[in-house]
Amino acid sequence: MNIILLGPPGAGKGTQAAHICEKFNIPQISTGDMLRAAVNAGSPIGLEAKKTIDAGNLVSDELIISLVKERIHLPDCHNGYLLDGFPRTINQANALKLEGIKINYCVEVKVPDDDIVERMSGRRVHLSSGRTYHIKFNPPQEPNKDDITGGDLIQRVDDNEEIVRGRLKIYHKQTEPLVKYYRTDADNPETGTKFIAINGVGTLEEVKDRISTALVS
Ligand code: AP5
Repeated sequence: MNIILLGPPGAGKGTQAAHICEKFNIPQISTGDMLRAAVNAGSPIGLEAKKTIDAGNLVSDELIISLVKERIHLPDCHNGYLLDGFPRTINQANALKLEGIKINYCVEVKVPDDDIVERMSGRRVHLSSGRTYHIKFNPPQEPNKDDITGGDLIQRVDDNEEIVRGRLKIYHKQTEPLVKYYRTDADNPETGTKFIAINGVGTLEEVKDRISTALVS
């Protein structure tokens, strides 16, 4: 079961990924989390990517494709995986095809830009696990503390409104064309890909139920 979660920054991909992974017993592969882990570890990839991520731009296709190729060949991906934040360009999607990877579902989470800005300003993140919260819509049990470990929550540098608006522009220009790309794949029975568009506006539970219903039907 290989699933792609597509959607603008802050659409709730990371939030919903956890439920989908639990349902299918597959790992979540979040390229954003992988890059942030590399930044925190001070690895060469992290050093190269930090400025780009903080500015809200996309890292190079070459770098991200090699990271993902390595990750999906690890043993925990044997039964499939959920790609969260990848592919983000046509080149990245073509790289998956060249590897002979079949995509069972492409799930697009749709949220208008203005809602995104509100979501991002209230987002708080537990960096080492990737768990996300929202001060209003999904607050942690104790302010600024992760529910599981009690570790500190932070606000991402790239969640600043100006940078978020820039990330949305990049999304519409470079990533949104993938909606057509995967819709076309879904129209071709040979690919076996199903395309599902989900309304991402509503409570976390409502969005979760919509995705869950769509993924079994
Ligand atoms: P990445 O971390 O992937 O960022 P993103 O795609 O911009 O997505 P986010 O993690 O910001 O949002 P999300 O959709 O997961 O939303 P979340 O669930 O947190 O990438 C970061 C950077 O890494 C990129 O800018 C780029 O530089 C680089 N990068 C990564 N992948 C790359 C690639 N493939 N190619 C090139 N560069 C790459 O939810 C957001 C907030 O809303 C949370 O606070 C949450 O609690 C809240 N929320 C969720 N659902 C709801 C709801 N229904 N109602 C109200 N609030 C909600």
